[in-house]
Amino acid sequence: MMNCCVVGLQWGDEGKGKVVDILAAKSDVVVRYGGGANAGHSVVIGDEKFALHLLPSGSIRPGTACVIGNGVVVDPAVLLEEIAMLSERNISLEGRLFISENAHVVLDYHKLEDRLREESLGKDKIGTTVRGIGPCYADKIGRSYAVRMADFRDLAALKAKLEKIVEYKNKIFGALYSAPPIKVDDIFPNCRQYAEKLGSFIIDTTHYLHDAIAKKKSILFEGAQGSLLDLDHGTFPFVTSSNASSLGMAPGCGVPAQMVERFIGVVKAYTTRVGAGPFPSELDNEIGQYIRDKGHEYGTTTGRPRRCGWFDAVVANYSITIGGINEIAMMHLDTLAGLKELKICRAYKIGDTETTFFPSDAVRLSQAKCIYETLPGWDDDLSAVENFNDLPKNAQRYVAAVEEFIKRPLTMIGVGPKRTQTIVRK
Ligand code: GDP
Ligand code: IMO
Ligand code: MG
Repeated sequence: MMNCCVVGLQWGDEGKGKVVDILAAKSDVVVRYGGGANAGHSVVIGDEKFALHLLPSGSIRPGTACVIGNGVVVDPAVLLEEIAMLSERNISLEGRLFISENAHVVLDYHKLEDRLREESLGKDKIGTTVRGIGPCYADKIGRSYAVRMADFRDLAALKAKLEKIVEYKNKIFGALYSAPPIKVDDIFPNCRQYAEKLGSFIIDTTHYLHDAIAKKKSILFEGAQGSLLDLDHGTFPFVTSSNASSLGMAPGCGVPAQMVERFIGVVKAYTTRVGAGPFPSELDNEIGQYIRDKGHEYGTTTGRPRRCGWFDAVVANYSITIGGINEIAMMHLDTLAGLKELKICRAYKIGDTETTFFPSDAVRLSQAKCIYETLPGWDDDLSAVENFNDLPKNAQRYVAAVEEFIKRPLTMIGVGPKRTQTIVRK
């Protein structure tokens, strides 16, 4: 298989985990390049469900090498839990997991800082996952008080660094939030354990990936979050703290985009969002609740109910354009069954102006009114459909309408959460 990047085109939770798991069958290496344990990627195989936060979704395939690139912020406690969870199910990562020495480390004080900041913001909070993502990336950008995976190689130096960090953080936490002081003695013993248990996985992953490319191995790059949560191109400030679109791939693992032939964008047949921020096609009504119930739209990481809305072609086209996306995987077509009418947002009206180009500015976006195309729905259950031609005519019509709006082929169509419930058209 060619090198391929899978990325969410909406606000996350599009079904990337499932798509990556399917494509991983034909890949030698699967790479996570951004985000951290804020991600929740579900893979369902038969009756077994796997929820992964840091390990690439390809890790469930025993023959696949798994890379956690330099762009990821690694919470070692979560990673160790995940490795143990797979080990309990007889899936070993020994010899096939590689963590970048340059990846930054999320420690407990990052999660504390995330929580303290969100609490202090009150009604203006972002609605983060409180996984310490923003504070860890902020330390990375700030450089002087950051911890990287390579630091686990020299515990004496790490302890000295933590002393400096704790002094610095305590000044900030005390002044801004009147929080009780954090202590090196509460942090360092955990780090010693992380070093012991994860040390053998830490390597120069950029070197590893370029060796693999030279050997003509096929590499699958797994995006986390979604393009509209991208720090630079998403709905700032209601975004995550990394480049969650496909643009984050190259800096997040050191492989340039021209080495990737397929950029697959994942969407749902509708749209969801977790956390705060504008959402033009949101259905804050009984249709939204119907989709939430039928699609089990509750967060994989935090369990929060996801906000639901119609498919928004303005959103998808923007993410396709900035991300260089050439094909689309659309999940959850089955979830729309039972609705009399379906709508697709084809343009926005902002004031007196109509536009099909997504305004990422949160103020303008919050003024956008959707202009919809209405299509007839269907009642039939899709969960056992294996071929496109066996879909009800109105479901085929819906897929054709989406393709028409976004001018890209829908090469995978999801009709249920299981690995096998996917119509592959390529
Ligand atoms: P990710 O973050 O993009 O990997 O997506 P999540 O795993 O957070 O959320 C997607 C949810 O939808 C998971 O519970 C999946 O098991 C489920 N899912 C994926 N594809 C389909 C589909 O085609 N139909 C249905 N009904 N569920 C799906
Ligand atoms: P996957 O990979 C959906 C959202 C949070 C919040 C904002 C910032 O499963 O698609 P953060 O904790 O990153 O600082 O939170 O981003 N968010 C996600 N929403 N899916 C995700 O990941 C998300 N990761 C972060 O809800 O609105
Ligand atoms: Mg998710």
